[in-house]
Order: sequence, then C-alpha cells, then structure tokens
Amino acid sequence: MDPADRLARLDALATEASGCTRCRLAETRTQVVFGVGSPNADLVFVGEAPGFHEDKQGFPFVGQAGKLLDRLLEGIGLTRADVYIANVIKCRPPGNRDPVPDEIERCEPYLFRQIELIRPRVVATLGNFATKLLSGKQLGITRVHGQEQDVTVGGRPVLLYPLYHPAAALYTPSMLTVLEEDFRRIPELLARAPVDPAAADAEPARDGTPPESEPVVQLGLF
Ligand code: URA
Repeated sequence: MDPADRLARLDALATEASGCTRCRLAETRTQVVFGVGSPNADLVFVGEAPGFHEDKQGFPFVGQAGKLLDRLLEGIGLTRADVYIANVIKCRPPGNRDPVPDEIERCEPYLFRQIELIRPRVVATLGNFATKLLSGKQLGITRVHGQEQDVTVGGRPVLLYPLYHPAAALYTPSMLTVLEEDFRRIPELLARAPVDPAAADAEPARDGTPPESEPVVQLGLF
C-alpha cells in the first residue's frame, strides 16, 4: 500500500470513528480523539484514553503527560512528527475513570486497524491497559516494562515494548527514572525489530483471516 493510500484509509477510519456511538462514552465526550502523527511511522505509542485536555483539543497526549512524552522523544532524537500516537479508548471516560471492559471491546477494532494500516515495527504501550490489550496477557506493567515481546497484530508481526505510563511517572520520580531508561532502548529496538517481508506484503483476507502461518495474538479487524 503506498503512503497516500495509507493516509486516505486512516482518514476514512478517523471519519468513521468521529461519529462512533458504539458505547456510552459517546454521550459524554466532547469529541473523538482518534490519533496523531505519521501514517508511515515505524514507532507507534498507545496510551489509555483521552483526558480533559485531549477531549477538548481532539489530540492525544496534549496535557502534562504529553509534555513528558515530547521530552522523552526529544531525548532519543525524535519528534511527534516521526511517530504515531493513539489510545486504546478514543473517547474520554467521565472524570478520567478507568475504561471498563465493554468500552475496550467496542473501541479496540479502531486501534487494531490503525496498527494494521500504519504497519509499525515497534508498538510502545504506555501503561497497563494498552499493554494487557496488545500482549493478550494479564501481566501488569510493573512486571513487563522494558521487556520487548514479539506479537502479531492483525496478522502482522510487531515488537511490543511496554513502558510505564508518563502520567504515572510524572508524580513518581523512581518511575520516571525507569521510564527514561526504558525509553533509551527504543532506537536499538527500531534498528533490530524483525521485519517479516511475507507478512508485510500479504494483505489480510477480506474476512479478517490473517496470512497463513502467522500465530495470532490479537486479530484486529472489524
Ligand atoms: N493519557 C492517555 O493515556 N492518553 C492521552 O491521550 C492522555 C493522557
């Protein structure tokens, strides 16, 4: 898929998501916060859900946690324009409460499709919700942060890299130190993330069946 096509498909998905009423969060959101960044990014960050500022402005990670994310990116020579940033949940939960399972279930196809279209080499999950969803395991972030794992998303191999959530690190200096250390390994992971040409070229079947011989951890199709 050429970059223009990829951009057009992401735009179409964003338009579809903008009117989403799949769950109760549609009633309280200001707007859907779809995602931002390069449609050709090798590195995708996945957070939890929009907060107050994201809900108002329409972009992920624009508050204090986002400023920390920008600083961490700068530390490894990247800017927002080099990566793509999205959340598990596209609408703000009222009062910033945790998303509940049926909200995640209804919203996750958008994230899986975003990853399918962008085809990143590394997906860095920020915090527990994104990590558990994309790893398919219930192990918490304290156990798995900084440990890359090979997973398949929508029939494509990606290197999953769990990180502490920047919002948690903002108020816990020891966590910030660990997040900074883990972050510094991202360039190395980008350099060595496996690219499986067969999987990269193969289109999933229209019914969502992944290319043959790919073990599926998460299949992200509507
Ligand atoms: N926290 C998140 O997980 N996502 C955002 O977009 C903002 C804060």
